Amino acid sequence: MQISPSILSADFANLERELDRISNADWAHVDVMDGHFVPNLTIGLPVVEALARVTPVPMDCHLMIDDPDRWAPSYAEAGAQSVTFHVEAAGDPRQLARNLRGAGARAGMALKPATPFAPYADLLPELDMVLVMTVEPGFGGQSFMADQMPKVREVREAIRRHGGEIWVQVDGGVSAKTIEECAEAGADVFVAGSAVYGADDAAGAVEELRALVARHT
Ligand code: DX5
Ligand code: ZN
Repeated sequence: MQISPSILSADFANLERELDRISNADWAHVDVMDGHFVPNLTIGLPVVEALARVTPVPMDCHLMIDDPDRWAPSYAEAGAQSVTFHVEAAGDPRQLARNLRGAGARAGMALKPATPFAPYADLLPELDMVLVMTVEPGFGGQSFMADQMPKVREVREAIRRHGGEIWVQVDGGVSAKTIEECAEAGADVFVAGSAVYGADDAAGAVEELRALVARHT
């Protein structure tokens, strides 16, 4: 069970300090948006490279970009320990996942709310994580989509049948109110943006979320 605070809700003028606030987290979730795959534009490779130089917290890059086949491996080379691409945008997801592992990162595959898992189940051998989006990607602070829980269960069940240690991440609207149903459904990596960075004590919010999911281990 791991907590990955999303820096999308952090103060972009002080990212090094904002990462210090969550030094007790397992990961720092970095939302890369290109203004094409999603209607929002955030940060890209130069910022990820700079953050990798200053933070000891492993980076979990969530790429909401077109043509991840071309761009994603650079994030692994920049020092992100986990790189997640959207399968909707990938030309050859199998090869892309192999390239990410080849570049030394964990390979993650993300599914938008309307994207089913079944057509991609045969990619599991190439993956270290499946990200089930619990909001429409693009913005922080949206409402949690409980209707994605059957997909979380389906992914967890497929992983159980497949074997191996593949993580199931949920991202979007995850908070103290919603994290337990995610854990119950089989998620084990929890992204939380506004629930962590909206708190005065961000590290305390991470611990609170951790304590809630610990009940489900
Ligand atoms: C949305 C991003 C999320 C976002 C989550 O497209 O992928 O990582 O930061 O923010 P909250 O937790 O506020 O929904
Ligand atoms: Zn994200």
